[in-house]
Amino acid sequence: MIGDLWYKNAVIYNLSLATFMDANGDGIGDFQGLQRRLDYLHGLGITCLWLGPFQPSPMKDDGYDVADYYSVDPRYGTLGDFVEFTHGCKQRGIRVIIDLVINHTSDQHPWFQQARKDPASPFRDWYVWSDRKPENADQGMVFPGVQKTTWTHDREARAWYFHRFYKFQPDLNTANPRVQAELLKIMGFWIQLGVSGFRMDAVPFIIATKGADVTKPVEQFDMLRTFREFVQWRRGDALLLAEANILPEDDLEYFGHDGDRCHMMFNFQVNQHLFYALASGDGGPLIDAMLATKPRPHSGQWGSFLRNHDELDLGRLTEAQRQTVFDAFGPDKHMQLYDRGIRRRLAPMLHGDRRRLELAYSLMFTLPGTPVIRYGDEIGMGDDLSLPERNCARTPMQWSDEPQAGFTKSDRPIMPVISGGVFGYERVNAAMQRRDPESMLNWTERIIRMRKECPEIGWGDFRILKTGRREVLALRYDWRNNGVVVVHNLSDKPCEILLDVDGEGERSRLVNLLSEEHSLPDDKGRHPMVLEAYGYRWFRVGGLDYLMKRSEG
Ligand code: GLC
Ligand code: CA
Repeated sequence: MIGDLWYKNAVIYNLSLATFMDANGDGIGDFQGLQRRLDYLHGLGITCLWLGPFQPSPMKDDGYDVADYYSVDPRYGTLGDFVEFTHGCKQRGIRVIIDLVINHTSDQHPWFQQARKDPASPFRDWYVWSDRKPENADQGMVFPGVQKTTWTHDREARAWYFHRFYKFQPDLNTANPRVQAELLKIMGFWIQLGVSGFRMDAVPFIIATKGADVTKPVEQFDMLRTFREFVQWRRGDALLLAEANILPEDDLEYFGHDGDRCHMMFNFQVNQHLFYALASGDGGPLIDAMLATKPRPHSGQWGSFLRNHDELDLGRLTEAQRQTVFDAFGPDKHMQLYDRGIRRRLAPMLHGDRRRLELAYSLMFTLPGTPVIRYGDEIGMGDDLSLPERNCARTPMQWSDEPQAGFTKSDRPIMPVISGGVFGYERVNAAMQRRDPESMLNWTERIIRMRKECPEIGWGDFRILKTGRREVLALRYDWRNNGVVVVHNLSDKPCEILLDVDGEGERSRLVNLLSEEHSLPDDKGRHPMVLEAYGYRWFRVGGLDYLMKRSEG
């Protein structure tokens, strides 16, 4: 079983091909470039790559506007390069999951082109139309402030079409059985070419009812079961990782009460409250978020993350909490986006403070679930706020201090490389950090190794331990006769705690997993501990003979 649900103890790395590594010198990252960096990723210790969209696309939304589901954009290479790449990953024991963007297509997709030209076309009903402007056309925009409407008039079609996202992304009519059959075919195609599954884009919208008369969209959860069954028939260890920023009360609908829908979901609830905890030093709301998202089926797993390719969406916080995070991490208007979030990268948000970066990462790696890292965060890359919207956090990977950060031989990269200042490639790059044992890169490599040796976190049950302080978060995981305890001080001040590891009268010592500073219990079985500002600890309960004690089931 442990090997079968591989995603329970994986480390996922998210990258966008366009800005990772350019091998042919045209300024755009490509599969051959990525291929040559696989040993870097292997060395970092990640076990799964999540690749952003790479199919042919007008690239008006970073590839999330797909114009052909069965091919590779020629700027990135060929299908042949793709298969070489998945093979290269397989040789190194790295799995590949890819974005599956099926809520909408690009308006340049031949399906939409035919649908708009000819009302009699079989593709007409692949999209969502209305003869008149729907009353709710100015509601439900995903990108408020940039996107003005969810219905746009198409002259050629002489009708209005629905788009939950930008207007060049017409929504597919996912209720149409032919569309559903096509979606399965797309999944089957990429599985056949070597992927282990999909990061499913915009899941609540895919499964929602759509149409001019829909005032309150209703999710059709059965669709998720159909997807799940299909991928798992094609490949037993296939994974569906859902992007679904939903409320905890709906979690089980997405996982399936019997674990028969999505295997994994990003934990947006915990993500937002984690940033609140980092901003305020108060762990209370984060604990509430963890407890609210605790119920899940045995095979279900959370994806824990800090930042990704989108803005940090703070829409689920209270007004006051959101303001606290804005004040701490994105005080200027141009750092914020869509009235609800912050568009910056992690390192500049935390003012490049290494202690805070380690704290944030240590937390992410030890929250209940599987960690998902964003490329470049392992070296503490910055952002370029002069770029529009979310592009500020999508600049080329900083490989070295060579021209264009070693990303390309071209002097015209697809996105400008960050240069100069504290986050410029001259100072922040992988080559320099590789040589420095104390660098962020090497710290990340070590923490990944330790995280992989703690399957208790990915598999086990967690309990919140009492610390008597709102700024100190202590968790205990138990799994197969073994316990792991992690402690985080969110505050900028040192503090002293008395930790009760709560093991039913257990009086064992705590073995520190990251240093020689072990802890012995006092005569009441509690552990006195002094934590430095932003300090963190990872412990094993009991001795290092834990593997002898681990049970089989
Ligand atoms: C998801 C993606 C985002 C994209 C949107 C539309 O939210 O994460 O980058 O713009 O879907 O496909
Ligand atoms: Ca290229």
